[in-house]
Amino acid sequence: MVLKEITRRFSVRNFSDKELPDEIIKNILEAGRLAPSWLNTQPWHFIVVKDPRNKSLLSQLTHGQPHVESAPVVIICCGDKDAWEEEIYRKTIESKEGITPERADMLLKSPAFNPKLKGDDAVTFRTLEQLTYAIAYMTVEADTNGVGACIIGGMGNELTGSVPEVYDLARKTFEIPENSMILTLLTLGYPDESQQKPEKTRKSVDDVISWGFYGNKVIK
Ligand SMILES: Cc1cc2nc3c(=O)[nH]c(=O)nc-3n(C[C@H](O)[C@H](O)[C@H](O)COP(=O)(O)O)c2cc1C
Repeated sequence: MVLKEITRRFSVRNFSDKELPDEIIKNILEAGRLAPSWLNTQPWHFIVVKDPRNKSLLSQLTHGQPHVESAPVVIICCGDKDAWEEEIYRKTIESKEGITPERADMLLKSPAFNPKLKGDDAVTFRTLEQLTYAIAYMTVEADTNGVGACIIGGMGNELTGSVPEVYDLARKTFEIPENSMILTLLTLGYPDESQQKPEKTRKSVDDVISWGFYGNKVIK
């Protein structure tokens, strides 16, 4: 029953100076590590950043978003394109129970299951798709620990091509391997309690939910 936490959670952009214990950071990361992913590919890697100079660099990467610099901790959420390389992906697929080599061949030959067949963009999108679940889990775990978080997607990286020089520097600074990308950041810290909690604004149930077919509002 996590609906209470999901309802309560909001993006925190103002943090107190209180230090975030490593044990809590580890719990948050564990929630991400255990998230579901496509055929269990787990194409992710998380880097915990606390160093002020490095957080400042990450803030530059996000066009100067101040909460990236002021957050006590920033998690760099990297996507690992190697996870989809045939040899590695085949091993992942075959390690799943009940998958025969013939079935693995079929999956590897189908663009529905093998994004590499659709090119680099598809690989990037599929990788981000997997990361999204891990990040969502981490935000909820953060909230249950009383920790505020903000997902940061407005940044320079392979997806946006924005601020390429800063991105190159960030790749070097954080020693990102060649086939990995920085796709998202997650800022973490205890919320500054003097800040007012924003009202949760969402589209209505009628706007976003149908039963049986698009637009039908009556439960069938
Ligand atoms: C993929 C993604 C990217 C986001 N990028 C940013 C960002 O770059 N900067 C920021 O301050 N918030 C960012 N957010 C937070 C959203 O603005 C926020 O989740 C949304 O407005 C709903 O508010 P809430 O999280 O407080 O419920 C991002 C959220 C998601 C899911």
